[in-house]
Amino acid sequence: MTAGQPAAVAARREQSRAVWDAMAAGWEAHRNAIWDDSRSVGEWLIERLDPRPGDTVLELAAGVGDTGLAAARLVGNEGCVLITDFAPEMVAAARRRAAELGIANAEFRVLDAEGMDLDAGSFDGVICRWGYMLMVDPAAAFAETRRVLRPGGRLAFSVWGTPADNPWASLVGPILVAKGLMAPPDPTAPGIFALADANRLRALVTAVGFADPEIEEVATHRTFADFDAYWRYLTELAGAITPVLRALSPEDRADVRDAVRTGSAPYAAGQGYDFPGRCLNAVTW
Ligand SMILES: C[S@@+](CC[C@H](N)C(=O)[O-])C[C@H]1O[C@@H](n2cnc3c(N)ncnc32)[C@H](O)[C@@H]1O
Repeated sequence: MTAGQPAAVAARREQSRAVWDAMAAGWEAHRNAIWDDSRSVGEWLIERLDPRPGDTVLELAAGVGDTGLAAARLVGNEGCVLITDFAPEMVAAARRRAAELGIANAEFRVLDAEGMDLDAGSFDGVICRWGYMLMVDPAAAFAETRRVLRPGGRLAFSVWGTPADNPWASLVGPILVAKGLMAPPDPTAPGIFALADANRLRALVTAVGFADPEIEEVATHRTFADFDAYWRYLTELAGAITPVLRALSPEDRADVRDAVRTGSAPYAAGQGYDFPGRCLNAVTW
């Protein structure tokens, strides 16, 4: 990993890796629902990356690998997709999925996107859905991405938009803060909304030598069959928020759950919930 990094940065990265390792089982179990709810995002990325037969594609922060596996179908037997994530349990889940689907042109590796042990200029394309905003040093990750792409190679990626545009994810944090159960988040720290500003995104990618990116807001949504399903998402899959909810006392957890249920009411749909969502999708080269 990144040589000479300050201990605090290394510790933050290790903590994030442990959180995501623990999320892998939930993401594996709910992969189809996640893909279906955000199909607009995944399909946009694949379309703009436009992988051709014979291409070599790298997926970063792949999680359980669905976007990379979709790209693998397009590069054919002469091409290859390297599916990577820094959480070993995520990589293991992606590998299992490829075996289930009989996909033979994908390889798998545990890899930190902020310091890649990969040759310069070795990929035709890089794809990353919902990864860069979680990275401790996204500038390093974009620089590494540029380095491993061949000249003219394309990067297609997606990050989440603003809290206001994504109530499915932003509802619970302010409740925890208001009840004194969580410190207010540091706006400069990595997190789901850390790259929601298109101007910051543009500045980050152009600073490392990419062309001015095409950035498009892509609407998505998150559906849950009932409130229990939404609460399960929050307590099993929701990245950094999940350990906070799990560490609450039973009384506090019940109290937060009630407040989240009240806050979710505007998004009720039939027996369940249909929350709007919005991503910033970008393509550059
Ligand atoms: C929100 S999940 C998204 C997973 C997947 N890309 C998807 O769209 O389903 C974020 C993923 O980023 C990974 N991640 C976070 N920081 C990373 C880093 N520095 N290097 C590699 N992976 C990282 C986590 O392990 C996790 O699997």
